Amino acid sequence: MSPRHPSAPPPAPSGDNADWRTIRSLLPYLWPAGRVDLKVRVVLACIFVLAAKVTTVYVPLFYKQAVDALTTPTAVMVVPVFMVVAYGVARMVQAALQELRETMFTKVAQHAMHQVGLETFRHLHRLSLRFHLDRQTGGLSRAIERGTLGIENLLHYMLFQIVPTLIEMGLVCAILWNLYDAWFAVVTFGTISLYVVFTFAVTQWRIKYRQHMVDAETEANTKAVDSLLNYETVKYFGNEAHEARRFDKSLERYEKAAVISGNTLSFLNWGQGTLIAAGLTAVMLMAAYGVAGGRMTVGDFVLVNAYLIQLYLPLNFLGMVYRNLRQSLIDMRAMFRLLQVNAEIEDEPGAQPLAVSGGRLEFDAVSFDYDLRRTILRDVTFDVPPGHTFAIVGPSGAGKSTISRLLFRFYDIDKGAIRIDGQDIRKVTQASLRAAIGIVPQDTVLFNDTIYYNIAYGRPEAPPSEVEAAARMARIHDFIMRLPDGYQSQVGERGLKLSGGERQRVAIARTILKRPRLLLFDEATSALDTQTEKEIQESLRTISRDVTTLVIAHRLSTVVDADQILVLDRGRIVERGKHRELLAQGGVYAAMWMRQLETRGEAEEPRPAETVAAINAGNAE
Ligand SMILES: Nc1ncnc2c1ncn2[C@@H]1O[C@H](COP(=O)(O)OP(=O)(O)OP(=O)(O)O)[C@@H](O)[C@H]1O
Ligand SMILES: [Mg+2]
Repeated sequence: MSPRHPSAPPPAPSGDNADWRTIRSLLPYLWPAGRVDLKVRVVLACIFVLAAKVTTVYVPLFYKQAVDALTTPTAVMVVPVFMVVAYGVARMVQAALQELRETMFTKVAQHAMHQVGLETFRHLHRLSLRFHLDRQTGGLSRAIERGTLGIENLLHYMLFQIVPTLIEMGLVCAILWNLYDAWFAVVTFGTISLYVVFTFAVTQWRIKYRQHMVDAETEANTKAVDSLLNYETVKYFGNEAHEARRFDKSLERYEKAAVISGNTLSFLNWGQGTLIAAGLTAVMLMAAYGVAGGRMTVGDFVLVNAYLIQLYLPLNFLGMVYRNLRQSLIDMRAMFRLLQVNAEIEDEPGAQPLAVSGGRLEFDAVSFDYDLRRTILRDVTFDVPPGHTFAIVGPSGAGKSTISRLLFRFYDIDKGAIRIDGQDIRKVTQASLRAAIGIVPQDTVLFNDTIYYNIAYGRPEAPPSEVEAAARMARIHDFIMRLPDGYQSQVGERGLKLSGGERQRVAIARTILKRPRLLLFDEATSALDTQTEKEIQESLRTISRDVTTLVIAHRLSTVVDADQILVLDRGRIVERGKHRELLAQGGVYAAMWMRQLETRGEAEEPRPAETVAAINAGNAE
């Protein structure tokens, strides 16, 4: 990370405060503006939650009355039958209400997950190239996946476990107090309070171990993904063992963390079980004394037991619920933190769309560095008149591709200005700027989809006939027609099922399809053989005839007829002029030209005709 451009998320806040903030970030998604249907669902779900709990509390009461009626010798059979039926009906209603709240709320929760996931995805695309180069993609996609899942968990646990349990606890304590004496309520309440405090404290303590486990898992995953993405490189260097060792180390960390996490979990479960058993025994003893002393009936004994067991069951989940809740909060926080990362490049308030008239492109004393410690471009100035073609040549690492990234405004420049038809690119909207420029980048990476999809990507709404026309111009149509699946052939991960030259031609085709107002070719034909290159040069000349064009090239023979050639060396333009002028100057460019002629001569010895042609081209005019 560069010292000057902090794109890291703000430091993770911790503790309850942060949890509340996370929950608060979620609220707008649960109460979405303009979605009355969803709001109605939320209200209905809450009503059903409440109704379900009230019914739940009635169930043991019917049960008790049935038992009492059965244990009273004088009773008529009608009473217990009525009570048993009431008991059954209450249970049915309870079950129905429980499912109703689910049906009401599922849509709300899924809608929230959908929206948050989408917003995060959009935001990630808004973030700068710098952010993405610093980040591992596997980790990002997992953060989204986990974060949206966290939302579902959080909502589910809150609404269907914690809140109902709290309601039930209050109701049961009130009933026990009312029916018997305060001590029943006090002991029940006390047990549950102790249980909750114990659970939260221990869970809080073991959260760090869980976090270690999750971190180790993420690390292992990103390592695995990165390693598999570099499958070929791994083979080239025979480094399978090295990769396995790296992965093994991460797995080992995960294993250790998981064991600690599991052991602390056992401790938690043991403590919870003990507390509940103790509380249950105490209350049952009190009830037994009451029955023995004639103050309570057998039905009361059964009632107390039924209530406690009923309370005990969801409490048993509470530890798990709390753990998952915390985990969900951690996952959601990670995702919401991504949302807080500021996009480094933002449209200025009130930015207007770029208005391209002729397509004059000016670099005005542009200086730039990725990192304060090393300047890449210094004082770069050039001015491409509308429709002209300028070439940029120079040694590797000179900053040529950087110029194209700046033109696309992937980074903002430090000094100077870049203008298109007089408009500073920082003052116009990024979308309009990028829509106006077409690039064939140095390394083309394709989407793992069909060839057709990848070409049509240049203008997704283009009709198939235009897609095919673009493919013809890029000299790739015939190749595609020879494929068994034609345009529907899959190109594989990152397009790696195609050769480098084929990928490049797909990239050219999709740029042709885009019909931009300015064109940028960054080594667009470097991977092609001389014959294909010549053919494509022809097409490129056609499409760039009236379009302002920047050509970046190593092979100087491809730029001889540029309107101007800029020689870039270590971030400075050291020479500029037409091919012939530069040769005549006998400077850097002339030396490069001579070197290329020589190496060409060596590499392609039996082709004197071509060398002669190139020299002739050099001396033309
Ligand atoms: N994201 C980045 N962060 C830091 N430095 C970078 C970054 N991208 C490129 N550089 C550095 O900037 C310099 C210029 O890179 P650039 O890609 O513009 O070179 P180039 O002239 O296109 O070279 P080539 O002919 O090899 O493609 C290089 O030294 C490179 O290491
Ligand atoms: Mg480059």
